[in-house]
Amino acid sequence: MIPGDGTRSVLITGCSTGIGRATALHLASRGFAVYATARRPETLEELGRAGCRTLRLDVTDEVSMQAALDAVERDGGIVDVLVNNAGYGLEGPIEELSLDKIRAQFETNLFGPTRLTQMVLPAMRERRRGRIINISSVGGRITTPGTGAYHASKHALEALSDALRFELRGFGVDVVVVEPGAIKSRWVDTAVRGLEDRIQPSGPYAKFNRAVVKQMYGAHEGLLGLAAGPPEAVARVIERAITATRPRRRYPVPAAAQLLIGLHHWLPSSVWDAFMRRMYPSPGVDD
Ligand SMILES: NC(=O)c1ccc[n+]([C@@H]2O[C@H](COP(=O)([O-])OP(=O)(O)OC[C@H]3O[C@@H](n4cnc5c(N)ncnc54)[C@H](OP(=O)(O)O)[C@@H]3O)[C@@H](O)[C@H]2O)c1
Repeated sequence: MIPGDGTRSVLITGCSTGIGRATALHLASRGFAVYATARRPETLEELGRAGCRTLRLDVTDEVSMQAALDAVERDGGIVDVLVNNAGYGLEGPIEELSLDKIRAQFETNLFGPTRLTQMVLPAMRERRRGRIINISSVGGRITTPGTGAYHASKHALEALSDALRFELRGFGVDVVVVEPGAIKSRWVDTAVRGLEDRIQPSGPYAKFNRAVVKQMYGAHEGLLGLAAGPPEAVARVIERAITATRPRRRYPVPAAAQLLIGLHHWLPSSVWDAFMRRMYPSPGVDD
């Protein structure tokens, strides 16, 4: 079913869990030819049974990206749509994050998707057809304390997408950004566990770090978590972004994400900062 049957084919990164997995299953069920990729191919067996072609792809390893694209070509397939989904959240105050950790965050969330996009573009330009869907975040539009490195990587992905959208339009290639808010996936555990492991009880950011952990769990699992969406909601939005004749530039999901972005846009920075000070203890003041 994958190559040359006239359906649009979609390559998705980070399909082992969460949004990537839900999107692969959803699109396969809707008749798309799906190349579901992950850095650990053994996590993709269910997707294989659901009709996806599964491939190993680590977005920090260019050799694995090339091997995956070579496999698509050997199948006689093409990549009509690239969904840059793989990513994770590095949390913690900037002073306590090593540059190596921040670089690794950018490798996965920005440089990996950038390189993969560069690799699929020549064929898309030649066909004068293609779509790049970058999975950013509400954190690509707003910034909350304790998440600076992650949000910086997603802000950068948004900027890159804006430039690409202009540069590729004339070649028939659309660039779309999907901006999830809180989504119930493994994402929050990865992000929070990473920070919890690094909290130094007598360090200058101990109280602040504990508040960041609480806020993050709260946004995904507490009362506020009632507004969090399932990965399938993002999958449906991605389908819309793929099938729209004229896709929107940005798709926030769920509704709470749109609200937060709107608030951040319209409130003066001083009011936003005051709002953040109510939500988080200020390091150096509220210890
Ligand atoms: N969940 C949310 O609340 C939320 C909110 C805003 C934005 N997002 C964004 O949505 C995207 C998907 O997140 P999710 O919620 O589905 O989280 P998730 O369940 O933790 O899934 C993340 C996926 O990225 C993969 N990944 C991480 N590093 C990779 C690498 N170097 N190469 C290839 N794959 C890699 C993971 O693979 P492994 O299993 O191998 O680790 C996993 O498949 C991310 O870009 C995330 O930043 C999520």
